[in-house]
Amino acid sequence: MEKFTHDIVIVGAGIAGLRAAIAAAEASKEINVAVISKIYPVRSHSVCAQGGTAAVLREGDSYDLHAWDTVKGADFLADQDVVEFFVRRAPQEIINLEHWGCPWSRTEDGKINQRPFGGHSFPRACFAADMTGFHEMHTLYGKAKTLENITFYDEWFVTSLLVEDNTAVGLTAIELKTGKLQAFKAKAIVMATGGYQRIYQFTTFSHTATGDGMTIAYRAGAPLKDMEFVQFHPTGLVPPGVLITEGARGEGGYLLNAKGERFMKRYAPEKMELAPRDIIARAEQTEINEGRAFQGPYGPYIALDLRHLGEEKINERLPLIRDVAIKLAGVDPVEEPIPIRPAAHYAMGGIHVNIKTESPIAGLYAAGECSCISVHGANRLGTNSTADCLVFGAVSGEEAAKYALSKSFREIPKDKVLEEEKRIFDGILGKEGDEKVPAIRDEMRKIMNDKVWIFRTGEELQEALKEIRKLRKRFENIRVEDKGGAFNMGLIEVLQLDFTLELAEVTVVSALARTESRGAHYRLDYPKRDDKNWLKHTLAYYTREGPRLEYIPVTITKWTPTERKY
Ligand code: FUM
Repeated sequence: MEKFTHDIVIVGAGIAGLRAAIAAAEASKEINVAVISKIYPVRSHSVCAQGGTAAVLREGDSYDLHAWDTVKGADFLADQDVVEFFVRRAPQEIINLEHWGCPWSRTEDGKINQRPFGGHSFPRACFAADMTGFHEMHTLYGKAKTLENITFYDEWFVTSLLVEDNTAVGLTAIELKTGKLQAFKAKAIVMATGGYQRIYQFTTFSHTATGDGMTIAYRAGAPLKDMEFVQFHPTGLVPPGVLITEGARGEGGYLLNAKGERFMKRYAPEKMELAPRDIIARAEQTEINEGRAFQGPYGPYIALDLRHLGEEKINERLPLIRDVAIKLAGVDPVEEPIPIRPAAHYAMGGIHVNIKTESPIAGLYAAGECSCISVHGANRLGTNSTADCLVFGAVSGEEAAKYALSKSFREIPKDKVLEEEKRIFDGILGKEGDEKVPAIRDEMRKIMNDKVWIFRTGEELQEALKEIRKLRKRFENIRVEDKGGAFNMGLIEVLQLDFTLELAEVTVVSALARTESRGAHYRLDYPKRDDKNWLKHTLAYYTREGPRLEYIPVTITKWTPTERKY
């Protein structure tokens, strides 16, 4: 059993992971940082972020306004101390990226340009055309590669956390090119593995978004917070689900039903297409359910009309989505509306961390989408996610560095590494079961799409829970055809399916318990927000029998919950 030793190990190389690595490496040259990624870093899902990153940069805007928009958008479930910290730190992160070479789109006088986005009452989304995440990722990766105390482990798949006396001491990971399981020793570990929306059929997410870090932390004893809150983005391209940025509406795009109506006037008369996502997703689903959507070979859809923007503006501001719409839907937005419908897009829930990104396990930090800090509460505003990854990625790197400088390494528990080796190679790879990944995975996604979607009921959630648990039973009989070592992607698919099944169960259990409607969690059987009983965060703890739920209060600083109107 070989050992790899680093002061800090960061799992995930998206925006949060790379920003954490830079912050930790810059904190001290003495600190030795590793970044482990199951894919080549610049293929992380963060490259799919399109529309922008929110930050207060202009006169007329203010920290309080950004914070208020975020708190109201969150349906008052966000921790307000975290939001206040977040809005103040975000501008610095934009400037850092500027200094490291990010090609921001510019105003005519050379300033970083900003566009309107849903739920924001000021145009504060800094953008690089409609490829913001792509450019941020390349900028961060370039910067990280200049720091000599960062080592990248590309194409390594992390399988478990090693925890002793409630302290993270290392982790296990499979090197894909050899297929060997190795142990990493670390003083601090930062989870930055992104979301898990591949539990759904229709999603904007990459195939790699399987919630690995969330499940690993959960099984090691860290609770998952607010997992019932899943964001549905109003404009997933039909048929593939690929994101069509909200920036298209920020630039002036309309949503139309089959009668040619801008139906948002019935749901959010003031904000229209720039209302928050939970409201627009519900509006679209209502249009679909009540028979006012277009009908196509891939089911009902809504039209996103950009034609009035003109070719020049579309090419300048939205070149990627034009290309994507042409290639994947056969529609040129210059000439025709784009077929869209709501798609699973983001997890407001994740590993429970405090304002310093510390989890309840000493030495374990989490940042970005795999964490729940909670800045987004029950519904995230567009462009607050990349900002969250930058701000709290940096905080996690700084905090992990402080922690690592004050601690010594601890021994790796060899018995736990051997146990993990046995679980994977004897238990999964060695098994001659008769269940296959695609069958279980497709069924899980169908259940989540049919019964844990935008509108939920207790009855359907109960059914979903029963069915997911049946799938987990079937999973015990899974078979990996390829018994080899090098790049055994069949094995990786099984491990990812295991992670997603766990998270699907936590999502359903948390959603079933919350008998109110708030933000993205809408219960047809409990259609009202209930602050008296439910102004609180859900914490789900791992047990062998399924998640055990506890609740903790929301931090309110200056904004008392009120009715949410747009
Ligand atoms: O629509 C978008 O460009 C997505 C942005 C986000 O999720 O923040």
